[in-house]
Amino acid sequence: MNTKKIIVALDGMKMKEAIEIAKILKGKVWGFKLNDLLYEDISIIKKLKKYGGVFADVKLHDIPNTVKNSTKRLSSHGVEIITVHASGGIPMMKSAKKNSGKSKIIAVTVLTSSKLKSKKEVLDLVKDAIKAKVDGIVCSGHELSSIIKINGSKRLLKIVPGIRPSWYKAKDDQKRKTAPKQALKLGADYLVIGRPITESKNILKTFELLRRE
Ligand code: C5P
Repeated sequence: MNTKKIIVALDGMKMKEAIEIAKILKGKVWGFKLNDLLYEDISIIKKLKKYGGVFADVKLHDIPNTVKNSTKRLSSHGVEIITVHASGGIPMMKSAKKNSGKSKIIAVTVLTSSKLKSKKEVLDLVKDAIKAKVDGIVCSGHELSSIIKINGSKRLLKIVPGIRPSWYKAKDDQKRKTAPKQALKLGADYLVIGRPITESKNILKTFELLRRE
C-alpha cells in the first residue's frame, strides 16, 4: 500500500515517545494526529512538523464564534488539518472554514466507536459538510461506498479511522472497523491508524507489515 496515506494517531503517550515514533516514521507516512498531547504542550505541533504533516484532532463543537477563535489559533500554529464535528451544524462548519487560514477543515461524521442506528445519520452529516464547503470528512470504511454516491462528495477528502489490520487481535473501543486494504479500495484518501502501530513493540517491523498488506 501507499504508506503516504497513513496518518499515525499519537494518543495517550508522553511527548518524548511521540517524537521517537515520529522520527522512526519520518518520510514513510503522511504525518501525525494529535489529541491529548495538544493539552500537554502546544509546542508539540512545531516539534512534529519536522517529521511530517500535523493533524489537530480537536473535534470542535461549539457556537460559530468560539469555533472561529479556536480554528484561528490552531491554524496559527501551522497544523495542516483541524477537525470539527459535522453535527455542530452548517454555520459552525462555515465559520471554521472561513477562519482556518492554510489549515484544512475536516468534519467528523459519526465516531467509529459508535454503532450506527442507520447509515442515513452519516449521509446527512456528509451532505451538511458539502453545503458548508469544508475540505473533507472523517467516516468509517463502512459508509464509504454510499458516501461516494452523494452529489458533491467527490471533492471531499475522505479520512478513515477504525483501521484494523488482520494481524491486530487486541479488542478495543472501535466498533465500525475496516482493514487497511479494504478502506483504500472503497475510496479512502487517508487512513488514521493509532494503536496497531503505537502499541507495537517494534514500530518499524509493524510498519513494514502494514506496507506489505
Ligand atoms: O488507536 P486507533 O487506531 O483506534 O486510533 C484512531 C484515532 O482516530 C483516535 O485518535 C480517535 O480519536 C480517532 N477517531 C476515530 N473515529 C472517528 C474520528 C476520529 O477513531 N470518527
